[in-house]
Amino acid sequence: MDCHDVSLVSKGIVKLAWHFLFFPLLGGNKGHKQKEFGNFMQTDAVKPLRVKRAQSLMGEVSMPGDKSISHRALLLGALASGETHVSGLLEAADIMASAQALRELGAVIERNGKNWRVTGRGTSGLLQPHKPLDFGNSGTAVRLMMGVIAGHDLSAQLIGDSSLSSRPMGRVLTPLKQMGLEITGQNQDVLPLELRGSHDLVPIHYELPVASAQVKSAIMFAALQASGETTIIEPKPTRDHSERMMRHFGASIGVEPFGPAGRKITITGDAELQGCNVIVPGDPSSAAFVVAAALIVPDSDLIVRNVLINPTRTGFYETLVEMGADIVFENKRDAAGEPVADIHVRHSPLKGVVVPPERAPSMIDEYPCLAVVAAYASGETRMEGLEELRVKESDRLAATKSGLDEAGVVSTIDGDTLIVEGAGGTGVVRGGGTVATHMDHRIAMSFLTLGLGSQQSMQVDDVSIIDTSFPSFLSMMEGLGARYDDMASEGDLS
Ligand code: S3P
Repeated sequence: MDCHDVSLVSKGIVKLAWHFLFFPLLGGNKGHKQKEFGNFMQTDAVKPLRVKRAQSLMGEVSMPGDKSISHRALLLGALASGETHVSGLLEAADIMASAQALRELGAVIERNGKNWRVTGRGTSGLLQPHKPLDFGNSGTAVRLMMGVIAGHDLSAQLIGDSSLSSRPMGRVLTPLKQMGLEITGQNQDVLPLELRGSHDLVPIHYELPVASAQVKSAIMFAALQASGETTIIEPKPTRDHSERMMRHFGASIGVEPFGPAGRKITITGDAELQGCNVIVPGDPSSAAFVVAAALIVPDSDLIVRNVLINPTRTGFYETLVEMGADIVFENKRDAAGEPVADIHVRHSPLKGVVVPPERAPSMIDEYPCLAVVAAYASGETRMEGLEELRVKESDRLAATKSGLDEAGVVSTIDGDTLIVEGAGGTGVVRGGGTVATHMDHRIAMSFLTLGLGSQQSMQVDDVSIIDTSFPSFLSMMEGLGARYDDMASEGDLS
């Protein structure tokens, strides 16, 4: 943990950086909503977009930072003593929601050139906030923060946008209440929530009833601040970034196999975390859209650099290889405890496959994108065990199916299984409809990807939500050969 000196950046410049980061893609001129987001007014402009069929996608891109790792870097930096320097942090609205909430709690988080510096307050050292903590669209930000708040002697009001306010929070609050967190407001399961933490958290033994890294991580954040050892059993392994990064900050985290496929995680409480350097690798969930686009569009040949290939995140890529995708992982390396590679992908004929339910946690965010790829494959693709998709930023199972319907792709939902009938090769997916994104960034990007190969232009009702995870998506894809029509200027969807 070799911390280095970084010169100070004034708050004013940080504020300007916020405007720079969030206003460019919000330039539409209708459907404006304004809301207070952190220190400034964010304009939520609804921005419809049409994507045209692409000729071929060629070139090289480097992926922006992983969203899950970026959240954890800020939270752990705020709970550590001293400074944490983060390179490659994802600069997207979801991460800025974590940053802003931590500022309200007394941590100092500043941009310094391309890097970010977090000045922590030590374990359980955050302060009483003076206004509600606004988590925007981000489930990860709010749920992990509940674990942080649990170990502090303070009260906080947690709010979010309408998508986040409809998502279940009880799955996180149930174990945190056992540890000593109090719910002081009326709502028990949904935002807005009023919480009171405690300096006297007790450790627990908890078996996760759902395969959720957010629930696991929230308990882990609380456990760092409890006295004694907390154990968590996860019957199905989920992303392990909290385990890796907590160790990197000096916490004692044990991980052992449990049962046929599960894990037992032991967290030693009263942890003393030390500020350190964190390198955030590129996000495989964002890279999924770029890789999918290359597979769909004939004659494409792309190199996607700097992609995290942690095995708890690579189920999508495993599935693509089974479908016959020409994907090569080059230049495999380590970035601060996480495996990374460059992905070389070429357009490929694909065949339908069965994706087993046990793979779901390692590709939970990639199913809408896989459904789009499956539309271009020969034969049927069955994706099993998708019940968690119902509680994402939208009901992603339903939103994916209606997007496929709009595009003329035949699909069926059978319980928690999605079946997509592939069109059997390139150029035969009709496209042409308008997809409702339901404030879900991954639905927007999935169907903009589908439209790169479909016969008719595909329309998406609002792409502004893409800023939550991948603000450079449209410009990156344009750089590779994609073409979009900004429909707000044409008034097509009025
Ligand atoms: C995440 C875990 C997953 C994933 C989300 C990020 C995380 O959610 O969908 O985008 O960073 O821990 P669940 O824990 O609800 O499965």
